[in-house]
Amino acid sequence: METKGKKARIAVLVSGGGTNLQAILDAEREGIIRSGEVTLVVSDRAGAYALKRAEAAGIPVAEILKKECGGQAAFEERLNGMLEENRTELIVLAGFLSILSEAFTRKWEKRILNIHPSLIPSFCGAGYYGLRVHEAALARGVRVTGATVHFVNEIPDGGEIVDQKAVAVQPGDTPETLQRRVMEEAEWVILPRAIERVLAERQAGR
Ligand code: GAR
Repeated sequence: METKGKKARIAVLVSGGGTNLQAILDAEREGIIRSGEVTLVVSDRAGAYALKRAEAAGIPVAEILKKECGGQAAFEERLNGMLEENRTELIVLAGFLSILSEAFTRKWEKRILNIHPSLIPSFCGAGYYGLRVHEAALARGVRVTGATVHFVNEIPDGGEIVDQKAVAVQPGDTPETLQRRVMEEAEWVILPRAIERVLAERQAGR
């Protein structure tokens, strides 16, 4: 992957507000992420606020909209071209809501990380994203939830788990309050930590 001492090039894929992207950028600034740097941010939604965060940090951004590409295969071809041109070494899905095909995930095997807002294998897979995950957790009455960072393979939320952190559900929680607590206590902590660990291990040849 990378020669020792050189920072790995990270592309972050987003769809929304980009608070996880912000956590990554802050972690880079604070030296929590030392082994890589974000060199590209791509959104699959028009006008995602995450792109404003990237621009504010001086990072190149792009939008690739599936319907303008004419379908999944063309979308992935464009995405892939951009990632290669960027000489991407690690892809981070930070609130990226498109599902990637088997061909794509195989091509980038062990080089895509995703953050999911539950303790996998609970409340994950197709249809579980964003606020829906927290609605399902509250409907089921769990007392503990959390977040998971995992490698991405062809099974939605099915790849190898890299890190997890538990978060307590509080009486009176709404999906919104729970989502916020899971982000603050878990997602923004474990995503930067997992990125650094994966890159550092790779650079050390482990
Ligand atoms: C985050 O909670 C992330 O875990 C979730 O979407 C939110 C994006 O917020 N991702 C998924 O549900 C993926 N299945 P952000 O744009 O502020 O980082």
